[in-house]
Parts: sequence; structure tokens; C-alpha cells
Amino acid sequence: MINLILFGPPGSGKGTQAAKLVEKYNLLHISTGDLFRYEMGNDTPLGQEAKSYIQKGELVPDSVTIGMLRNKVEANPDVEGYIFDGFPRTVAQAEALDALIEKMGTSISKLILLNVEDDEIVTRLLERGKTSGRSDDQKEDTIRNRINIFKNETSPVFDFYAEQEKAVQVEGLGSIDDIFARLCAEIDVLV
Ligand code: C5P
Ligand code: MG
Repeated sequence: MINLILFGPPGSGKGTQAAKLVEKYNLLHISTGDLFRYEMGNDTPLGQEAKSYIQKGELVPDSVTIGMLRNKVEANPDVEGYIFDGFPRTVAQAEALDALIEKMGTSISKLILLNVEDDEIVTRLLERGKTSGRSDDQKEDTIRNRINIFKNETSPVFDFYAEQEKAVQVEGLGSIDDIFARLCAEIDVLV
């Protein structure tokens, strides 16, 4: 199996690149942000719980997020691998993911960080906000809060996988195809 973590701040292109990667490598794309938005769209209890955090750009508590991710993985065991997008966002989530994936007899192959600077992220997300319908893409304050949370709470996940010698970074600036080629170069050495 190839199990990738597509890592990076909000707006770094994780979702865009994951959509291309699933086609080339036949992996299952799991975006926890998309799962939350689906739950919110259906106004489920989980969606209602997540909503107050997401609207402020804050993290949903680990127990909620880990439970939701675990359900999704366990419901799809017969795949060639997973692309985790937007998860793990904390070291506790990374530890839970390692335990879950180990229980399935496999492991995380690589974490790839898409490196994009703050001002570019703000520009991209305000632009995306014109069409995404996402309240968390509308205000610069909320976007800056999400960037700060990435730096403070999420970036230690990079170090967690660096200790396992599984973390790499690629330049996240450039055309979609150029960035895709950089990601493929990192994945092709695994197979
Ligand atoms: O990954 P994405 O940017 O789509 O996530 C949107 C929001 O969902 C995040 O800003 C956060 O509020 C919430 N989220 C979370 N924990 C995750 C993934 C997403 O709290 N692991
Ligand atoms: Mg996304």
C-alpha cells in the first residue's frame, strides 16, 4: 500500500493535488475538511458539533476528528492506499493515525508538505471564498487564524514524521502541473 499524508497550510493546494494523485495512483482520498462539510450540510449531530469550531477557523477536538477519520478508513479497507488531506492536524491525531494504520498491517509511507507563504495563502483563500461558499474563506482574520493554528498546533506533525524519516517538503508555488510533477517525483521513489 501507499499511504500518503498531503500536508500544508490551508490553501496550499492539498485538495487540488489530491484529486490528481488519486487518478494516477489509484488511492482513496480522505479529506477530513470535506467530511466535516458533508456532515454540516446534512445538519447531523457531528456536523452541528463541528460547525462552531470551523466557522472560527479553529480545530475540532481530537476525539471527534479521530473518530470520524477512523470510521472512514475502517469502512474502506480494500483499497490500494490512502491520501490523507487535512489530517493529522495535531500530534495526537498523528499518533492515532499511526496506531490505526498499523492495526491494518500497513504504515504511513510519506508525509509531503506543500510549502506556501502566508500572503499567498491569504490571496488564494479570499479568491476561493468568492465561489467556495465556505464561511471560513471569507474573512482575512479567520484565514490568518487558520494559518496561526497551522503553525502552532499542526506543524509539529511534520517533526513527528521527520523523526521517522518520512517527512519531505516540496515548493507549493507554481503551476498545478509543475507542483503535481514535484509530488509524483516524491511518490515514484516509493514504488
Ligand atoms: O482541511 P480543511 O481546510 O478543509 O478544513 C476545514 C476546517 O475543518 C479547519 O479549518 C478546521 O476547522 C476543521 N478541521 C479540523 N481538524 C481536521 C481537519 C479539519 O478541525 N483534522
Ligand atoms: Mg482542502
